[in-house]
Amino acid sequence: MPTNITTDIRYIGIDDADMHLFESQYHTPEGMCYNSYLIMDEHVAIMDTTDQRTVEPWLTRLAEALGGRQPEYLVVHHLEPDHASGIGRAMETYPSLTLVCSAKAAQMLPQYYDTSALEGRIRTVKEGDTLALGRHVLTFIMAPMVHWPEVMVSYDAADAALFSADGFGKFGVYDADADDWACEARRYYFNICGKYGQPVATLLRKAAGLNIERILPLHGPVLEGQRMAEALRLYGIWSAYGVETEGVFVATASIHGNTAAAAQRLADMLRAKGCAKVAVADLCRSDMAEAVEDAFRYGRIVLCASSYDAGVFTPMADFLHHLAAKAWQRRRVALVENGSWAPSAAKTMRAALTAMKDIDIVEPTVTLRGSLKAADMPALEALADAIMA
Ligand code: FEO
Repeated sequence: MPTNITTDIRYIGIDDADMHLFESQYHTPEGMCYNSYLIMDEHVAIMDTTDQRTVEPWLTRLAEALGGRQPEYLVVHHLEPDHASGIGRAMETYPSLTLVCSAKAAQMLPQYYDTSALEGRIRTVKEGDTLALGRHVLTFIMAPMVHWPEVMVSYDAADAALFSADGFGKFGVYDADADDWACEARRYYFNICGKYGQPVATLLRKAAGLNIERILPLHGPVLEGQRMAEALRLYGIWSAYGVETEGVFVATASIHGNTAAAAQRLADMLRAKGCAKVAVADLCRSDMAEAVEDAFRYGRIVLCASSYDAGVFTPMADFLHHLAAKAWQRRRVALVENGSWAPSAAKTMRAALTAMKDIDIVEPTVTLRGSLKAADMPALEALADAIMA
């Protein structure tokens, strides 16, 4: 059943509880939702569609919410297929519809659809343009690279509502009352938008001048009240690549367990020295997207890895590749390597880190040769001290 967000704004999004690998790479054990909204005014506007797997139930939900009225506008904030796969069916089903989107979206549209049938039915808008629906007047705000270049958001002053596209989204099916929004919103943000901190910060600056009482994203719950305030606070930190949580994140890639044991010993030393929080991840077995999230969450990171084929053990190489792709930056990083005959992990990790922005490598790097021994403890203690300094 469509649900009311406000008197005139209905939620008509669809859950896909069986979508367990979003974008073919992110584990979503709790599924995913694709949000779509309807503004019922003198003129009716549909706000975005849904993904391919859920187009038919979305059309049913839309028809139910319309209650026989004809929609006039389909506003497309983001053309990525998880939100735009219903455009063709919606435009066919409702010949009354005009598609409203950014000029960049209009340019990209033929990459996905045969637009020959949409002649005269596309209206492009630019920064500050408005669309009057009656009591509601949408103002369009361009938000390129949050998360694609054609993205825009829209603001409705009547209900103090910001339709924020992917911004403020999260993994998981729709749960209006989810009390731990940040957990899956953080993993979503850094893996989907992590590279685009500057564009997100620009959008936040534009939004700061608006009276916003609710944020309506394309994934995750509508945000209002204290939860919205907390989300805005976190987005301020995240988009600036700031440190959200004081502590140390220890990421390990260990072949036979010796490097992992040393990492655990280092974590214990850090706790004993009063570190507020030490999070440890086994890159060989844990969710890569969660490890990426933690690398952004903490300010101090320890990379502990075995040497492998004259380089670094591949799960750590993969992790560093993910971090580089997401423009990871502004962190202090300590290195622990292990190598039985020719340690090469630290050199390889250091080279990868050198290519990143504002990475401060904490010395000394610790080199182990096989299992952790009493003779290794002073070097590990020295590193723990340096990390805590
Ligand atoms: Fe939810 Fe960038 O699509």
